[in-house]
Amino acid sequence: MARQRVLSGMRPTGRLHLGNYLGALDNWVKFQDEYECYFFIADWHALTTDYADPREIRANTRELAIDMLAAGIDPARSTLFVQSAVPEHAELHLLFSMFTPVPWLERVPTYKEKQQEDTTKDLSTYGFLGYPVLMAADILIYKAQVVPVGLDQVPHLELTREIARRFNALYRPVFPEPQAKHTEVPKLLGTDGQKMSKTRGNTIELGDAPETITAKVKPMMTDPARKRRSDPGNPDVCPVFDYHKVFSTPATQAEAAHGCRTAGIGCLDCKGMLLRHMLPALAPIRERRLELARDPGRVEEVLREGSKQAQQVAAATLAEAREAMGL
Ligand code: TRP
Ligand code: SF4
Repeated sequence: MARQRVLSGMRPTGRLHLGNYLGALDNWVKFQDEYECYFFIADWHALTTDYADPREIRANTRELAIDMLAAGIDPARSTLFVQSAVPEHAELHLLFSMFTPVPWLERVPTYKEKQQEDTTKDLSTYGFLGYPVLMAADILIYKAQVVPVGLDQVPHLELTREIARRFNALYRPVFPEPQAKHTEVPKLLGTDGQKMSKTRGNTIELGDAPETITAKVKPMMTDPARKRRSDPGNPDVCPVFDYHKVFSTPATQAEAAHGCRTAGIGCLDCKGMLLRHMLPALAPIRERRLELARDPGRVEEVLREGSKQAQQVAAATLAEAREAMGL
């Protein structure tokens, strides 16, 4: 039996931090063993929110490609491409827009949420309302069966399924309904104990140097009740311990938890133990990142080849869709 097809995309909004990497990109890398994989950089989706200031999109696209390759996306096994290099997505988006009711789009939770969250941008645009229609085109044009996404994207997947159903019922069956594969995201807060986000400036980036990571971890927020070295702490409420759970061995985790609860170790000792596991885990990604950054021609070539491959599949599906819609 042919392998199932997985597809997922990321918007190029800047360098990846650990929060984006764990639970997303590291899972993509594993999917390569089991699935036929399509991964892409959703630069048009970045424009839906950043249309007024698009200066960084191109550089971010390159950075994201480097992050993906450094993390282990292997162009020999996966098709890695840029959304806007496959304009077939846009035409399928247009065809879908003909029969997608506007109330379906207004009901998508992120539509209103994002507008309220980010008052610096005018998101009352046609393109932003159509964000999930474009996403449906991204997915269905490859007839992907499995789409790994975070929880916030699940309503978009539901809409994609509705669009597929509506197309198949109105014209003829062309599109399989994709399954969302919700991936567990380990909790990793930013260095200030708040949600990790670029705008808060509390991130640890995938490409950070070991000294930078050390400098960010040392002053990191811990169990707020542990004020003095002699106070016992509670690893269950400490953001540093969440990092131990991701990076440290079970033995180190047990040692840190016990030392914390008995005030046998201080928080700096605990962070030192963490860094001994965390730095070696991230070093290979950083090294590959530096290597790729020195070779922009190679990154361009990977994206060009991947986009060409993707386009062949996309063009075939688009031809079916046009024909089914009477064109
Ligand atoms: N909207 C997704 C996000 O912000 C990115 C995306 C665009 C995507 N098109 C997609 C994800 C298709 C999966 C499939 O994370
Ligand atoms: Fe957190 Fe470790 Fe300090 Fe305990 S000892 S509060 S787990 S940093």
